[in-house]
Amino acid sequence: MDAILLVGGFGTRLMPLTKHRPKPLMPLANIPFTERTIAWLAAAGVDHVILSVHYNTAQFIEHFTRKALGVRISFAPEERPLGTGGAILNCAPHLRSDQCLVVNGDIFTDLQLPALIAAHHRTQALVSIALKTVADPSRFGVIELNADMGICSFTEKPAHEQTLSNEINAGIYLLERRALEHFPPGASSVERDVFPTMLKNDLPLFGFRSRPYWTDLGTPKDYLQAHRDILQRRVAVPMPGTEIMPGIWVGAQTHIAENAILHAPLLLGNRVIVGPGVELGPNLVLGDDVHIGRQARLRDSVLWNRVAVCAESVISESIAGQQAHLDGRIHGGLCADFGILHQFASRRAGMRVPAPHAPVATVSRPAA
Ligand code: GTP
Repeated sequence: MDAILLVGGFGTRLMPLTKHRPKPLMPLANIPFTERTIAWLAAAGVDHVILSVHYNTAQFIEHFTRKALGVRISFAPEERPLGTGGAILNCAPHLRSDQCLVVNGDIFTDLQLPALIAAHHRTQALVSIALKTVADPSRFGVIELNADMGICSFTEKPAHEQTLSNEINAGIYLLERRALEHFPPGASSVERDVFPTMLKNDLPLFGFRSRPYWTDLGTPKDYLQAHRDILQRRVAVPMPGTEIMPGIWVGAQTHIAENAILHAPLLLGNRVIVGPGVELGPNLVLGDDVHIGRQARLRDSVLWNRVAVCAESVISESIAGQQAHLDGRIHGGLCADFGILHQFASRRAGMRVPAPHAPVATVSRPAA
């Protein structure tokens, strides 16, 4: 089966992290997110993924030409952003199967795609839309269903008093190829234009209910929360590294000083160097080749590959891009690849120093 992955957006809400790399190529627990999505699609029988690209197209082509993932990858570039509807239509020449999955490239979920496919066949829908129940649907596209799971309304980002349902469009669709005949040429939004127009024209659109883990990775808060959820095993995904103690995963050739303190859960990449007196975690992910200077304290943060943290720094609820340099007391910091964040900048941003927690694990020898 074919799948279209929409990965062409600018990721503006994650700036400056998306300054040098597109959101879908940001690592999620040390693996580029799109690689995780492709593995999830492949497990459901997808053998051809069409990447619908615009922002930073060259990075996608370079990454997925170099990296074989066991499925065929095609690229459908856009000269200008076509919106989600135009982007899907732009992939049409690459389609080989009569049905295709479409997934927003920033959705992190363990939704059971085979169940969605089975429901699509049962209802004989033209389009099936996966739904997710959320407490506050006001950020999302809300969908109302009839008793037969047929869709009866779409409301984008409703005001609280307007909310008729807590079920939202999860950004995962199964389309019959002939549905594309109803997509207008040029730019359009599938959520705001294409699907609502199809509904007005009485075409069979069905919702698919399940209770998956689901989040989008649209904001820094979402991105940090997704890491907490992975580390706390609220969602099961492959973890790179060896679990040396419950909730502590460590990569190869990582060196942890004898008197460092590790609070589970945390994930350390390959060749990480953790200096003496350092305190790490909980809810911390360090990429490959990260260096942590002596007596630094880090928690609730995600540092990508080759980040350096100066001695005695205190880092919390922060995200640092590749080769960033962190120095001082930083709370809620965001640092682009190759950027520098230091104490002065974080003070201006209203820094808080987290209180140390009792350790749940202490590692006294270097991990293999
Ligand atoms: P923000 O700029 O922060 O809103 O992020 P975004 O535009 O990257 O993501 P948004 O949530 O708006 O879009 C949902 C998904 O659709 C993301 O995976 C985007 O990459 C993708 N997307 C959005 N617009 C386009 C587009 O014009 N073309 C393509 N190919 N993909 C798009």
